[in-house]
Amino acid sequence: MTLRNEAALDFLRTRRSRPAKTLTKPAPSRDQLIEILEAGTRVPDHGKLEPWRLKILEKPTLEKIASAAKKYCESINCEEAVTAKALKQFEDGELGVLVIEVQKPSEKIPEIEQTYSAGAVCLSLVNAGLAAGWGANWLTGWLSHDRNFVSETFGLDTNERVAGIIYFGTETVTPAERPRPNLAEIVTWE
Ligand SMILES: Cc1cc2nc3c(=O)[nH]c(=O)nc-3n(C[C@H](O)[C@H](O)[C@H](O)COP(=O)(O)O)c2cc1C
Repeated sequence: MTLRNEAALDFLRTRRSRPAKTLTKPAPSRDQLIEILEAGTRVPDHGKLEPWRLKILEKPTLEKIASAAKKYCESINCEEAVTAKALKQFEDGELGVLVIEVQKPSEKIPEIEQTYSAGAVCLSLVNAGLAAGWGANWLTGWLSHDRNFVSETFGLDTNERVAGIIYFGTETVTPAERPRPNLAEIVTWE
């Protein structure tokens, strides 16, 4: 019996996000999303702190976020083009999963490891969505890192940060391959 999982390796060797702006309806149903969430939250998590939580942003919520983002950008006098770009993901999105890094007090687990675990959730959600046949994309944008915006609009506490918003939908185009790392440049054998 071999432990080698050819299908999983093929997937990992060829996986490719689908840019959020190219995704359309339908997005996964709630049941379909649960499957993705179960797979996507099965990630390395030192100390089992679960230093993350998820908010599901369905279409009506994304519309509300877009209008809150517009007001916020205007209140801080953003240039029109900057506002338009910041709003686009919320206006276009059909379904997003907001991955929130939640720093848990711990004497043993450094903060940075909790951050890495939240990043692992993001990638794992993208991979689970792709494996289930959906288009998926991990986005942030400057608003995701704006303390005032995320506390007002997403209700984030001071120990919380946006790790990413993972958008899911139906792909309309298969994107061109993205240049991938040259192992010879990033790997040393010692
Ligand atoms: C933390 C993080 C934030 C990102 N935010 C954005 C973003 O705001 N806009 C964008 O176009 N791509 C963003 N990306 C890039 C895409 O998610 C993705 O990495 C890229 O399209 C290629 O991914 P692939 O290896 O799955 O093909 C981000 C990536 C990471 C890791």
